Amino acid sequence: MNGKNHPVLSGESKMDSKYSKMINPEYMKKIESWFKNYVHQFTSSDRNYNQNIKLKKDHTYRVCEEIIRVGESLNLSHDDLNLAKTIALLHDVGRFIQYDLYQTFDDEKSEDHAELSIKVIRKEGILKGIDKSTNRIIFFAINHHNKAYLSKHEFARPLFFAKLLRDADKLDIFYVITKYYHNKDEHTNKAIELDLLDTPQISDRVYKDLISRKIVKFKYIENLNDLKLLQMAWIYDINFPITFQLIKERKYLEKIREVLPDSDKSQKAYKAVRNYLEVRCNQNKKKVPDS
Ligand SMILES: [Fe+2]
Repeated sequence: MNGKNHPVLSGESKMDSKYSKMINPEYMKKIESWFKNYVHQFTSSDRNYNQNIKLKKDHTYRVCEEIIRVGESLNLSHDDLNLAKTIALLHDVGRFIQYDLYQTFDDEKSEDHAELSIKVIRKEGILKGIDKSTNRIIFFAINHHNKAYLSKHEFARPLFFAKLLRDADKLDIFYVITKYYHNKDEHTNKAIELDLLDTPQISDRVYKDLISRKIVKFKYIENLNDLKLLQMAWIYDINFPITFQLIKERKYLEKIREVLPDSDKSQKAYKAVRNYLEVRCNQNKKKVPDS
């Protein structure tokens, strides 16, 4: 299906579809090479520093793969897949300077990393020569990838690409955190744990948000268990059928449940998100007729 005829993308001017062709294979090569060189600058004699830079570099490459996976499931055009990949490659470029300056990935204790990404993109002139309309899509998607809620006051195409990025990003963060939580005995990474204490309780406000199918507010987070619940509640912010399916197949919710305390609250929280996932997967199955 051509991107401009896609149901999710319709309602936007033809200009957007035409201009997205400006992200061509030649430009993709350029931008991939820029990213590699840019990240290469961030090296240190400190093992922990290099490990955290690598964490974000590897995350970026996997988000590129995930966004293509989600985009292909929606039959996006080749041009739109290239645009999606560009957005994924650039979405976290602010993470490197953030860690370099503040030694943390906690936006509250440093700066909003999406805004840092935009500053880097502007400063490095990466989108020079790319038309205004495509710039708008890229900046909107990057700026909104880490916000609790996605503003709906935007045209269909920027909103669509922002949703693509948010799904792809969450898929990989689920991968990173579940792998980490299950192997953390080897060593603790404060950057992933956001310096939170690993105390046994679960905060009432976090629990209530999750049970009411709400995105958990970051300001309510008091310890590592709260962060794990916040991450489970991302399921309420997933946009596309394949993302629900992949979360189910990869058992991400189960993996987070396994590293929560064996309490009534944990059990109920898990059941709430798992039921929601099941409902969404079944709804999506019904929408796809048997071939
Ligand atoms: Fe990010």
